[in-house]
Amino acid sequence: MKRELAEAAKDLAAYLRNQDENLAEPPCMGAAKAAPVLSPAVKTTKKAAAPQPAAEKENPPAPAMTPKRPADMDALAEQVKNCRSCGLGGTRLNAVFGVGTYKAKVVFVGEGPGFQEDHKGEPFVGRSGQLLDKILETVLGLKRSDVYIANIVKCHPMKNPADPESHGNDRPPTPDEISACRPYLDEQLRFIKPACIVTLGSVPTKVLLKTDKGISLVRGSAYDYPVEIVPGRPIKVIPTYHPAALLRNPNLKRDTWEDMKMVKAFLETGKIP
Ligand code: URA
Repeated sequence: MKRELAEAAKDLAAYLRNQDENLAEPPCMGAAKAAPVLSPAVKTTKKAAAPQPAAEKENPPAPAMTPKRPADMDALAEQVKNCRSCGLGGTRLNAVFGVGTYKAKVVFVGEGPGFQEDHKGEPFVGRSGQLLDKILETVLGLKRSDVYIANIVKCHPMKNPADPESHGNDRPPTPDEISACRPYLDEQLRFIKPACIVTLGSVPTKVLLKTDKGISLVRGSAYDYPVEIVPGRPIKVIPTYHPAALLRNPNLKRDTWEDMKMVKAFLETGKIP
């Protein structure tokens, strides 16, 4: 009798497990269509060791995003404009979706909008942006309209959200804000299908490569993006310094130029030198 009861309990548990799996129809875009994650940051050149997976709090799993998968970039931009997935959506002046061509071979990814970007609704329009434009032109021979530029978070993280008109009110995005916004970037990448992503500074590098290593340890090499955007063709990630870091420390320019030359060679030959 006892055995029969135990068997019945086992059957019931299996049935309930099955029900749970059947009901676990992904309710939203982020969960439903997320591409399989490849092994973390596969290094493709010789120098640095592959980054290690970051702590969970640095890279929390992407949560549910929006109820419908957008048909195109314009529909996605509209979703971002109306997004309230985190607190930044209620305090920003403008959502900063991205700028450039949807046919870009290379996508530059920064951390998040600052004061100027929040006011204009466009990424990298302040001093850092002017320097980025100069780097694009002098090393790659490209204009911002030839590439695509976006950020990990689309809204301005402010120390004092009640005062979007004050300068010096920027702060880095929190892990929760990153996690709420992260699916938008992958969706942008799915529409653009670039050959290469350049991460600007530590925050986007850590997030996209799932590493806890700082930019100075990771730059100088190319990695495979650990999210499959185009089946069978990993996007290369080439990390470099954030232009704001170059403004603070011009000694970093030499390394940045080297990284950009790697980007140029990859765009021209399809190979990492
Ligand atoms: N810094 C960033 O990371 N992104 C911007 O858009 C502007 C400055």
